[in-house]
Amino acid sequence: MTAAITSSVGALRQWFPTLAHNVHLAACSIAPRSAAMEQALNQMLDDLGRPGFWAACEEQLWRARRGFANLIGAHVDQIAVLPSASVAAFQASAAMRWRRRRALVTGTAEFPGLAHVWLARQSCGARVRWCGSRAGQVSTSDYVKAITPRTALVSAPAVSYRDAIRLDVARIAEAAHAAGAKLFVDAYQAAGVMPVNVDKMGCDYLVTGTGKYLLGLPGLAFLYVRDPSGPAPTLTGRFGRTAPNAFDAMTLDFPSNARRLETGTPSAAATYAAVTGLDMISQLDPVAIRQHTQRLIAAAAVRLAERGETVRLASTAEEQGAHLALVEPHAEAMTAWLAHRGLTVAPRASVVRLAMHAYTTIDDIDALCAAIESYRTRSRTRQRTGASR
Ligand SMILES: Cc1ncc(COP(=O)(O)O)c(C=O)c1O
Repeated sequence: MTAAITSSVGALRQWFPTLAHNVHLAACSIAPRSAAMEQALNQMLDDLGRPGFWAACEEQLWRARRGFANLIGAHVDQIAVLPSASVAAFQASAAMRWRRRRALVTGTAEFPGLAHVWLARQSCGARVRWCGSRAGQVSTSDYVKAITPRTALVSAPAVSYRDAIRLDVARIAEAAHAAGAKLFVDAYQAAGVMPVNVDKMGCDYLVTGTGKYLLGLPGLAFLYVRDPSGPAPTLTGRFGRTAPNAFDAMTLDFPSNARRLETGTPSAAATYAAVTGLDMISQLDPVAIRQHTQRLIAAAAVRLAERGETVRLASTAEEQGAHLALVEPHAEAMTAWLAHRGLTVAPRASVVRLAMHAYTTIDDIDALCAAIESYRTRSRTRQRTGASR
C-alpha cells in the first residue's frame, strides 16, 4: 500500500460501517453503503418535509456537477447530469449527421447499454464498426487500426466492464482526432478509483455514473462535453432550459453550456448520495488509490492462481483496471454462496468480478481466497488451469 492510503485506510473504513462485517469487492457494480450516504438520504427526507424541497435538490445538483467537474479537471459548464450512461450516449451523438462520415467505431468490450445506443444510431445513417475479438477482448491498437477518415465517432471504455481491460484513451483520442473524429469515453469503471483527467485523455465526451466507484447510488450519470455549443438536442426537458424555473411551456431555448443536454427531473436520492460520494472521493488522492488497488490486484491474482483459480489479468499492471475477473461458469451461484458468508462480489456472464477500492485491505483478499477455497471443496468444483490471460 502507498503511504497516503496506508496511513488512512483504517479511518477510511470507518466511513463504511458495513465493512466491519462484510467484505465488499463489488464497487464495479455497486458502492458499499456509507454513513455519509445514510446521512444524505436522511437529509433528503428532512428536506422533503420542509418548504423549498426543490430548491434544496437544485442546490445538491449544482454541488454534484461541481464535484464531478473538479474530479475530472473540467469546468462545471461542461457537465450535464442525466439519468443513465445510455441517455448520455444518446445525447452526445444526437447532433451527428452521419452523411459523409458514417462510421461509428466501438469495441466488443463496450458496455451493452452503450453499444445498443450506437447500434440504434444505424437508423440515422451511422455504420457501426466493431473492433476486438468476439470473446470481448479488445486493445488500444484494435481501436487505432479501426479508425479511418470515414469515422465520425469513436467510443471506448477507459476500463472495460467485464474483464477490466484498461485502454490508452489518450492514444485513441490522438488517432480519432487525426482522422477528424470525436472520442466518447465511458469512464464508469475508472472514475473514483484512478486518476481521470479529460485534458490528459483528450476525449470530447466522457460519461460515468454515481453508483459504483464514485460511492453514491445508481440513478445518475454525468456527461462531460468538451465543446457544448452546437445543434440543439432533440431529447430535452425542463432542466435543459436557460431558466428551468421559468416554467414557460411555449419557449424552447438552450443554454450555451452542457446543461442544454439535460432532460427531466433527476433522481433526488441519487443526487444527494452523489454529493456525499464525490465529497468522500475528493478527500482521497486518486494516484494513491490507483497504486493501492494495483497492489491488491497483484496479490489477489497470485493467491487465487496458487489455489488453481483462473483469472483474466492484463499483461501489464498499467493495462489492468480496478477489478479482477475470476473465470467461473456458474458465477451467480458462487456469488450467492459468498454473499451468505458476508462477501459481496459482482458476477457478470461467466466471470466473478472482484473490485478493489481505497477501503479494500489485504485481509479482504485473504478472506475471499479462504471462502473460495471452501466453496470449491463443498461444491466439488475447481478451475483446472490457474492460468491468466
Ligand atoms: C462500463 C459501464 N458503462 C455503463 C454502465 C451503465 O450504463 P447505463 O447507466 O446506461 O445503464 C455500466 C454499469 O452499469 C458500466 O459498467
